Amino acid sequence: MDSIKVFAPATVANVACGFDIFGFAVDSPGDELIVRKSSQPGVRIKAIVGDEGRLPRQAERNTAGIAIQSFLQHIGSEQGIEMILHKKMPLGSGLGSSAASAVAGVFAINELLGRPLKKIDLLPFAMEGERLACGSAHADNVAPSLMGGFVVIRSYNPLDIITIDTPNQLYATIVHPDIEVNTKDARFILKNEVSMKNTITQMGNVAGLIAGLMKPDYDLIGRSMVDVIIEPIRAILIPEFNQVKQAALDAGALGCSISGSGPSMFALSGDPDTARRVGKSMQAAFSAVGIASEAYVSGINQEGPRVIE
Ligand code: HSE
Repeated sequence: MDSIKVFAPATVANVACGFDIFGFAVDSPGDELIVRKSSQPGVRIKAIVGDEGRLPRQAERNTAGIAIQSFLQHIGSEQGIEMILHKKMPLGSGLGSSAASAVAGVFAINELLGRPLKKIDLLPFAMEGERLACGSAHADNVAPSLMGGFVVIRSYNPLDIITIDTPNQLYATIVHPDIEVNTKDARFILKNEVSMKNTITQMGNVAGLIAGLMKPDYDLIGRSMVDVIIEPIRAILIPEFNQVKQAALDAGALGCSISGSGPSMFALSGDPDTARRVGKSMQAAFSAVGIASEAYVSGINQEGPRVIE
C-alpha cells in the first residue's frame, strides 16, 4: 500500500463538568486526510482544502504534520510522506478541529506502515499536535477522536485513558455560531485557583455524569451536566450564551454547555428527534440576535478514525 485516505471525527471536550478530562466523538463532522509514501525524505503538505488558506503549510507547524513527524521519529523511520488535508469543519470552533487533523495523521501513517503501534499508543503523537495548536497537550479532544466513544482521562502522567459505555439513544446536538474563539485565549482567561465549595460541587457532577452514562440514567446525566468552574468564565465569550442554553433545555435537552473551549455549544438528548428539535431552538436563539449558526446532530461515535480508501 502506497497511499491511504482516512477520516477522523470531531469531538466535544469537557462535556460540561469534566474540564480537560472528558470528551466524546461524534459521527460528523470530521477531517479527511490522504497520506502517501514518497521517495523524497521528510513530511510535506501538498495541499489543504477547506481552511480558506489559514492553516500553516509547513508540516512542522501543522497539527497533522507534527503528529506524523513525531510518530516517524519514534519508530525510527525515514519514510518520506506527502499529505493532502481536507478540513471539513470550522477552525476555532470548539469541535476539536486541530485534534481531528492530528488523529487523522497518526492513524493514517500507522495504517500505511502496517500498524507498528497499537491505537492507544498513537495518543502521545496526536497530543503533540494539540501542544502545537494551543500551547497545551490536553487529550480530551484527541483521545475520543482516536478511541471513539466517551473517554475519561483519569491521569495525564502517566496517561490513563478509560472509555465509558454510553446509552444507544444518547444524541448530541452541536451548534456552532458564526464567531471564533481561540483555545489559547479561552484557556488564558481561566483562574488558576478553585474554591473548595466549587471543587466539591464539580466532583459530585463528574461522578454523577459517569454513573448516569453507565447505569444508564438520563435524568442523572442531565442533573450532572453542570460546570461551576469553567463555564461561568467562558460564557462571556459567547453572545447570548444563557438564552441559547435555556432554549436547549426548554426544547427537552438533558443538559447543555460549551463544547470544548467554544464558541460551539452542545446539548445531550435522550433521542434523535429531541436532539434535532434542540438544535433548531438553539439556532433560533442565536439568530434572534443576528448570529448565523450551523447545527450538527449525531449519536456518540464509537469507532473513532476509519480508513475511507
Ligand atoms: N479542554 C480543552 C479546553 C478543550 O477546554 O480548553 C479545548 O478544545
